[in-house]
Amino acid sequence: MFELYLDSADLERIARFNECLPLAGITTNPSILAAAGIGVNQFLSEASKILGDNARFHVQVVSADIDGMLAEARKLHDLPYDIVVKVPTTETGLAAMKRIKTDNIPFLATAIYSVQQGFLAALCGADYLAPYVNRIDNLGMDGIGVVADLQSLLERQGMTSKILAASFKSTRQALAIMQCGAAAVTLPLDVAERMLSHPAVQPAVDCFGADWRAAFGDKLSHES
Ligand code: E4P
Repeated sequence: MFELYLDSADLERIARFNECLPLAGITTNPSILAAAGIGVNQFLSEASKILGDNARFHVQVVSADIDGMLAEARKLHDLPYDIVVKVPTTETGLAAMKRIKTDNIPFLATAIYSVQQGFLAALCGADYLAPYVNRIDNLGMDGIGVVADLQSLLERQGMTSKILAASFKSTRQALAIMQCGAAAVTLPLDVAERMLSHPAVQPAVDCFGADWRAAFGDKLSHES
């Protein structure tokens, strides 16, 4: 089942989108939490009240060394939520991933900019891989192509890591990722907003209402 996440710490807007979208959970990163001025504990407590017990939260470690990442992963894993620990896919991060794996802690390899980087994280046992689609595009490369190639490599090698693609600036990017078979995406709120809306929809709905009222007044469908 495809997993749809929001990449945000804006609790008010998360609550709004949760009303109309079947969210698997929320992803954050240190920059998102810092910008929202909310720490991990308060965020998880409040977001889980909004999303319920089945929500999954992807939370990034901030330690810069292997032992620190492992210790942080263990602490995050002990929290009373469904947490996937995000670990940057650096040399240090890959070393931490190998140790986190032996602890059976679910983890996501983040900051993936290339197929080879994603493949190495998959070999280290990552549950999720997060390629940064728009950031790759901004470097003059092909973000969608990286995800498509990584997805095809995972399939050919029979690897179970799931791609949770991140960093989007357009609905076109997000749809292309869904079409290439990625297991999950995390959308920033402005892109989620644009996924919901199309200028032709409300006029069509308004027309149905006007036609109905002209014929049947205030009657509801089942009363006509
Ligand atoms: C998620 O794992 C990433 O941190 C995030 O999606 C990056 O998105 P940005 O490129 O919009 O900052």
